[in-house]
Amino acid sequence: MPFSVEKIRADFPVLNQKVHGKPLVYLDNAATTQKPVQVINRLSDYYRNENSNVHRGVHLLSQKATEDYEQARTAIANYINAAESKEIIFTRGTTESVNLLATVLEEWVQPGDVILVSAMEHHSNLVPWQQLCRRRSAELKIIPVDSKGILDLEFLKKSLNPQVKLVAVNHISNVLGTINPVKEIVGLAHDAGVPVLIDGAQALAHTKVDVQEIGADFYAFSGHKVYAPMGIGVLYGRQTWMRRLPPYQYGGEMIDRVSFDEVTFNELPYKYEAGTPNVGGVLALETALQYVQKLGIEQIRKHEDLLLEKATNQLLQVEGMKIIGKAPDKTAVLSFLVDGVHPYDLGTLLDQMGVAVRTGYHCAEPLIKQMGLSGTVRASFALYNSEEEVDVFTDAVKKAVNMLR
Ligand code: ALA
Repeated sequence: MPFSVEKIRADFPVLNQKVHGKPLVYLDNAATTQKPVQVINRLSDYYRNENSNVHRGVHLLSQKATEDYEQARTAIANYINAAESKEIIFTRGTTESVNLLATVLEEWVQPGDVILVSAMEHHSNLVPWQQLCRRRSAELKIIPVDSKGILDLEFLKKSLNPQVKLVAVNHISNVLGTINPVKEIVGLAHDAGVPVLIDGAQALAHTKVDVQEIGADFYAFSGHKVYAPMGIGVLYGRQTWMRRLPPYQYGGEMIDRVSFDEVTFNELPYKYEAGTPNVGGVLALETALQYVQKLGIEQIRKHEDLLLEKATNQLLQVEGMKIIGKAPDKTAVLSFLVDGVHPYDLGTLLDQMGVAVRTGYHCAEPLIKQMGLSGTVRASFALYNSEEEVDVFTDAVKKAVNMLR
């Protein structure tokens, strides 16, 4: 299918509006992506025509909802090339996926053990591990990141030993845009017998994800960062792990037999899906992934890389411009600072000119502080952003910087 930004934009109603009297230029896609009509319609169709609880009813609507829900699980499993659909556990998003894992791995981590995370983790792939280590008297070790935004793999190699119980790193950094060599990281960890969680929150919208090729034991992602609604996400967990780990939450759906004294738990994936799931969200996630697949992730990546390169070159014309994150393997995220200009002031002026960016720590406070900064401005691109928008954005930065200086 030819990649036409104009045609794509027509699928995203929210983009066709003015903010502060200016056409919206939405460059906060790392925080959340906008939704195409196909996804909005799938969600609304479900509530208009199908809404019913799954795995429970004898009636037709419930059977239809159950069928569609399980069929979506299979489609999502195929999309990330999971070996089996039972390895797809639906959650509220990456944060819940990581918290789920940090809860069920409690007994796996003993006093004196080590968990390795990178210095470029989002709080959601840092704090759950920090707190688990605190509860278990274990040690949280940080894999350093260099000034370009590249992970120190030598440190990782040196740190791997039988005391390490987990390596948890992101696939793509939400601050730096670095694409981490996840396959290599998994290989190193597995050579030492250590399981790996990949936080793929920023990855699905920008790169191919093949969990078997990567080899990760666990892979987490959120729907809303890949054109699906908020409140739906996935924890991919290899069944060899998930079968033997304990449940996360207790209640309906996750049980097999219950008496007042005892309970046996359901099989995978239901063991990890207590309560009524977000059926509409799951169906809309399937539609969002179909949307991406139809356009082709390689074409999307090519387009976004072009935008990133153009925006980077144009921003570098601004005196005092510092780009934060210069890894050679980088995508879709452009964090920057301008000498003498506070990121918040710049972000606020950009908003007045119709350009939506994020400013601050980007939920990665330790990384930003370690770099000696108190925040950055971040523009993050998606498949519907155009080259014209890059021009509007970089012109707006130039204008705002002149005003603030
Ligand atoms: N994780 C989201 C971001 O990077 C919220 O903006």
